[in-house]
Amino acid sequence: AETHHHKFVVQETPMTRLCKTHNIITVNGQLPGPTLKVRNGDTLVVKVLNSARYNVTIHWHGIRQMRTPWADGPEYVTQCPIKPGATYTYRFTIENQEGTLWWHAHSRWLRATVYGALIIYPKLGTTYPFPKPKHEIPILLGEWWNRDPISVLRQALFTGAAPNVSDAYTINGQPGDLYPCKGAVRFPVKSGETILLRIINAALNQQLFFSVANHRLTVVEADAAYTKPFTTSTLMLGPAQTTNVLLMADQTPGRYYMAARAYASAQNAPFDNTTTTAILEYKSARKGAPSRPTLPRLPAYNDTATVRAFTAQIKSPSKVDVPTKIDENLFFTIGLGFVNCTPGPRCQGPNNTRFAASMNNISFVLPRKTSLLQAYYQNIPGVFTTDFPAVPPIKFNYTGNVSRGLWQPRFGTKLYKLKFGSRVQIVLQDTAIFTTEDHPIHLHGYHFYVVGQGTGNFNARRDTASFNLIDPPQRNTIDVPVGGWAVIRFVADNPGVWMFHCHIDTHLSWGLAMSFLVENGVGKLQSVEPPPADLPPC
Ligand code: C2O
Repeated sequence: AETHHHKFVVQETPMTRLCKTHNIITVNGQLPGPTLKVRNGDTLVVKVLNSARYNVTIHWHGIRQMRTPWADGPEYVTQCPIKPGATYTYRFTIENQEGTLWWHAHSRWLRATVYGALIIYPKLGTTYPFPKPKHEIPILLGEWWNRDPISVLRQALFTGAAPNVSDAYTINGQPGDLYPCKGAVRFPVKSGETILLRIINAALNQQLFFSVANHRLTVVEADAAYTKPFTTSTLMLGPAQTTNVLLMADQTPGRYYMAARAYASAQNAPFDNTTTTAILEYKSARKGAPSRPTLPRLPAYNDTATVRAFTAQIKSPSKVDVPTKIDENLFFTIGLGFVNCTPGPRCQGPNNTRFAASMNNISFVLPRKTSLLQAYYQNIPGVFTTDFPAVPPIKFNYTGNVSRGLWQPRFGTKLYKLKFGSRVQIVLQDTAIFTTEDHPIHLHGYHFYVVGQGTGNFNARRDTASFNLIDPPQRNTIDVPVGGWAVIRFVADNPGVWMFHCHIDTHLSWGLAMSFLVENGVGKLQSVEPPPADLPPC
């Protein structure tokens, strides 16, 4: 195994998109940021120097960080932020993971422009469970704002109004030909070759459909776990999800658009119905008059049936080791609601309220003086409580017509404590207090099995019978279906404090999060390593 050293300089960089130039926060001046390439078993050492004006942290999304929670990155959860002018070195080893992951800032909305791919190849001497493709292309789907994302965040938080819609979607940082100021990324391919597309939804707030004109896509991996291969023309990725597909360059040599646009499951929320494109260009078609590339047909923005059919096909390649006896049976509601506020510009919800999002009616508040992990490790009292409820405080028809008055979120820094090694099941239930919609829920420090999902209210007696305990997919982010539920299972074998949250940043800012405290087990291999000497102070 190798150790890879990298330096990330977080800085302000002028970028021109949609014919306008303004400063954005980048890593090493790049958008997307640098692609990291490692092998399973390697160690990464990334020194981050913050040369920007904002606090920052970097999260290695999907990396398990076994016993190294100090390198996980969410601000005030596993570390205090890296202040302007300061440095922090993230050091971690990749244990038994292969595929496409990514890294992003985990500090307010900085991940809008601070993100990049993290590719984990199989160990030397081993290979993929499918024929090795000739070429591979990382494809990062993102969003672009004509304003600085921090001011966009401020507006969302202060007004508590509807989510801010970005000015464009992007593929590898470029909006593409269908927006003003053309300029799409081009990917040259050779006729007859098979190409591995490593697709990452790095968008802040949007589920996205993805398709390539005239080409079928064979899904082989999702969230850095191999899947039973299946062929489709359209993918759907929730924010933070990754999907690897094989593409055969077997069409008439020419130019073909790959394109992404919104899957918007929420009813009455504003969204951007524009399309980002890049061009798949057969090398043999390069000479001669450039013809207009063919556009793929993408599903309608509200085509939930296509999403359901796609998701149902994602399975592990063979029988997996799903926990069957459960020690912790948890039921978390997820959704948006309103809290009262003193009249003023912040209160733009109905009747002097503003948005708050919650799990089990608790809207998550980050500490400010230290991180949760430091508080746990150093026994600092008064930073958090461990009374996060295992079930909702009241039962109601979660996805039906419910009155808003029923559910006023409360603020709290509440953790749920798990014994090392306990077998956990979590039912995630969408609610309709404001509107139902898909929520991409991400668990730090773990991979989990998605054993079931469905619409309406979860009903243990009826739905448990339909669980897939044979070959469910392994993921780090589950897109809980609109007006429905999903059930995940995992073994709490990684000690530390691990955030569990919606990966739509608007919802995260409104508190749609909680954290698990997984207690140390017995012995060195079951305990959190000591904090690194350069861990930033608050
Ligand atoms: Cu990519 Cu806390 O998330």
